[in-house]
Amino acid sequence: MTWHIAMKESKLKPGKKKMRTVAKKMVLIGQTEDGYFATEALCRHMRWPLAYGGKVKDGCIRCPLHQTTHQIDDGELVEWSPFPLFPPYGKLVGKMSKQKNLKVYPTRVKDGNIEINIQ
Ligand code: FES
Repeated sequence: MTWHIAMKESKLKPGKKKMRTVAKKMVLIGQTEDGYFATEALCRHMRWPLAYGGKVKDGCIRCPLHQTTHQIDDGELVEWSPFPLFPPYGKLVGKMSKQKNLKVYPTRVKDGNIEINIQ
């Protein structure tokens, strides 16, 4: 277990998300009413940066591009490229990559910093 400082706690406003490079990995750091969370920064579907337009709701993060959704606590896939505006398109582009869970990282606060455990 290796904890890395990701950012100052004061730099992350409630409900906001930031993308950072921590231990050579791009990560997304956010805050919900349950505390901080950290996931890999890019959507598992077509690598969209989730910090740009990703919506956090009901314990999940949803990509703005084709609405792929993962749970925040364990990264488990909830919905893969449904693209509700035109589901046949979502189904088509959904086949362009293999369905995967989102990597999630443990977080903690120490000395005013948000730290992420990356192995
Ligand atoms: S890139 Fe995120 S759902 Fe397609």
